[in-house]
Amino acid sequence: MESVGIAKKTWAFLPVGYFSRSIGKKLIVAVTGIVLLGFVTGHMVGNLQVFIGQEALNRYAAFLQGLGELLWVIRGFMALMLVLHVWFAVKLKLENWAARPQRYQCNDTVQATLSSRTMIWTGILVAAFATYHLLHFTFVSTDPRLAELRHSHDVYSMVILGFQQPLISIFYMIMMFALAFHLSHSVQSMFQTLGLNNQHYDGGLRLVALAWATILFIGYVSIPVAALSGILKLPAGVR
Ligand code: HEM
Repeated sequence: MESVGIAKKTWAFLPVGYFSRSIGKKLIVAVTGIVLLGFVTGHMVGNLQVFIGQEALNRYAAFLQGLGELLWVIRGFMALMLVLHVWFAVKLKLENWAARPQRYQCNDTVQATLSSRTMIWTGILVAAFATYHLLHFTFVSTDPRLAELRHSHDVYSMVILGFQQPLISIFYMIMMFALAFHLSHSVQSMFQTLGLNNQHYDGGLRLVALAWATILFIGYVSIPVAALSGILKLPAGVR
């Protein structure tokens, strides 16, 4: 009787059906995640041109606007990546929660790190932040002064003026931390899903993920910090 019980437990522990269904979703989350990681990395590098000066950042923004219809194709593609990423990540999480009682029954003692357990929540925070950020700097609907600067193609002054408001800057910094926390696990998780992880370099991979997330955090946060502290100043005549 006991051996039948053990066999049952063993089979229940190997979630063959669950895995075959979820692997496709995991793959979509990983591939869309790589595209989004590429975007946040490139976006940070582009934005850091604020430290070169007004002309550099405005030239970069004008270049993007100059892409015309291609920009809308890129925007559409990125939006699709984001929707697929969020949709399948949430679906996986719901499946995972639904399977929880079974996992406890089989005495699954696998421990997850804090960043992996909070992925869904940091992900939701980043998605909420992205919505606010689009209203703030792309649709410029939160402050008429920013809209004026945006429409006169002075993205440099718009960014500095936007971040001279402490509450907004603090909000951005907290959200950048949520983004970094989200990424610190996701890079490693992507490698695992794509089968590129290996126990020999698992530690190194964790370090790469942490370093990448930290660079993104420092790079992004440096902009509101510099605007608040007066390192980045508004050009003469802009108030
Ligand atoms: C200090 C941090 C950031 C700064 C200074 C910044 C700056 C900007 C600016 C100036 C624009 C408008 C570009 C334009 O229309 O010419 C923009 C758009 C955008 N940002 Fe950021 N950004 C920051 C962080 C982020 C983060 C962390 C994300 C992603 C999670 C993000 C996602 C986007 C997206 C999706 C757009 C819309 C791009 C488009 O116009 O199609 N940004 N950002």
